[in-house]
Amino acid sequence: MSALTELCRQMVSCHACDLAQHRMHVVPGEGADDAAIIFIGEAPGYNEDREGRPFVGAAGAFLDELLSSIGLTRQDVYITNVIKCRPPGNRDPLPGEIGACKPWLDRQIEAIHPKVVVTLGRVSLSRFLPNDSIGKVHGKARHVGDIVCFPMYHPAAALHQGSLRSTIEADMRRLPQVLKELEGACVSGHQDDGGQQLTLF
Ligand code: URA
Repeated sequence: MSALTELCRQMVSCHACDLAQHRMHVVPGEGADDAAIIFIGEAPGYNEDREGRPFVGAAGAFLDELLSSIGLTRQDVYITNVIKCRPPGNRDPLPGEIGACKPWLDRQIEAIHPKVVVTLGRVSLSRFLPNDSIGKVHGKARHVGDIVCFPMYHPAAALHQGSLRSTIEADMRRLPQVLKELEGACVSGHQDDGGQQLTLF
């Protein structure tokens, strides 16, 4: 059994916070164990809680389209969330819930060892770049410690605010270039409020 499979097996019996009392399923995540890209959303919603899989609703359909626009499928990447259980009524995750889930996400990132961590939305962004606003940093790759973070708007944002759709699509189209640049290990030494920005963006 891979380290990631074992981790997901442990996760499904987690009772580290009160969300365990409300959930139908824990939603650990899915995709390739050795993915170069991990996408991190906010939290499972109604459909994800029922199915135990991430991004299976309308936002997930848009995420699939975005992946396809750069020639990828879910099987090529890893998709998960900051927290693994649905908050009642889809409210924002509480700081204590994010903290309780942090070791799971940290261990997932460690096991997958992706080249790029794509944060989807504000909650996921603040897990890595707590002082940045999504409107300013989306579509720009940044070193955060030993992680390369690429913030994007949450796909659901395009469902509520149609004007964001083309921004999200354009950001996604930059990802292959970010990966290519990382493979060439051609990173500038530019420091910018706690993060190091890649040369291209
Ligand atoms: N929104 C998220 O942030 N994650 C999901 O899995 C589904 C919707």
